[in-house]
Amino acid sequence: MLTVEGLVAGYGGSVVLHGVGFSVQRGEVVALLGRNGAGKTTTLRAVVGLVHVHRGSVRFRDVELVGRPPFEVARRGIAYVPDDRRIFPDLTVEENLQLARYASGREGPWDLERVYGLFPALRELRHLRGTQLSGGQQKMLALGRALMSNPELLLLDEPVEGLAPLVVRQLEQTLREIRQAGVTILLADQNLRFCRRIADRGYVLDKGTVRLGGTLQAITSDEQTVRQYLAV
Ligand SMILES: Nc1ncnc2c1ncn2[C@@H]1O[C@H](COP(=O)(O)OP(=O)(O)OP(=O)(O)O)[C@@H](O)[C@H]1O
Ligand SMILES: [Mg+2]
Repeated sequence: MLTVEGLVAGYGGSVVLHGVGFSVQRGEVVALLGRNGAGKTTTLRAVVGLVHVHRGSVRFRDVELVGRPPFEVARRGIAYVPDDRRIFPDLTVEENLQLARYASGREGPWDLERVYGLFPALRELRHLRGTQLSGGQQKMLALGRALMSNPELLLLDEPVEGLAPLVVRQLEQTLREIRQAGVTILLADQNLRFCRRIADRGYVLDKGTVRLGGTLQAITSDEQTVRQYLAV
């Protein structure tokens, strides 16, 4: 579904990704792993056109995305949930959700009822403004917003960072339900235990390069890899 090859990208004059390559099949949950500054966020941002790509290719369902603006990438069915959430603070929960569906210009099964079905807490909070939500509630809303755009591929940056263990377990269940509903997921996270429970495969990033890829089981049982690239 997504094939990234030889991606060279960065900010201004500084190159951060030095030839990143990986792929995601339809229906999978794939994790990008790696320490702080490894290039996980930059990779996700490059896929959706938010970072300048110098060289390389990002093909989504056989269409080249490099050079296309972020709104067009979104219309083609990729939703990106950044780690800082970017919800609209002055809009209510429900307005945030409705706007996302309207702005996406995409049709599909995800609407208010379905998102509230997945996140009953959001229904309770629907009249509150973004600023009145806790960090965990904002993460839920950001995910709900992304679903309202009816994506085929969901990119999640640090979905469980800063969440209490119980909330992490709930989110895992929610992500399984999203996957069951036919949405493919590419996520970036440093939480190995979470990734092991949720992801089929992963890629280990280090200094803007993919060091290895494989099942989460294989990656995390290799002590050398964990010590060298993943341990914090
Ligand atoms: N806006 C920016 N301008 C310049 N350099 C940046 C910018 N954002 C990130 N970088 C640099 O790019 C490199 C990769 O950062 P990136 O945020 O992609 O890493 P990450 O793997 O997501 O790390 P983290 O786990 O901290 O989120 C780092 O060296 C970082 O300093
Ligand atoms: Mg990051």
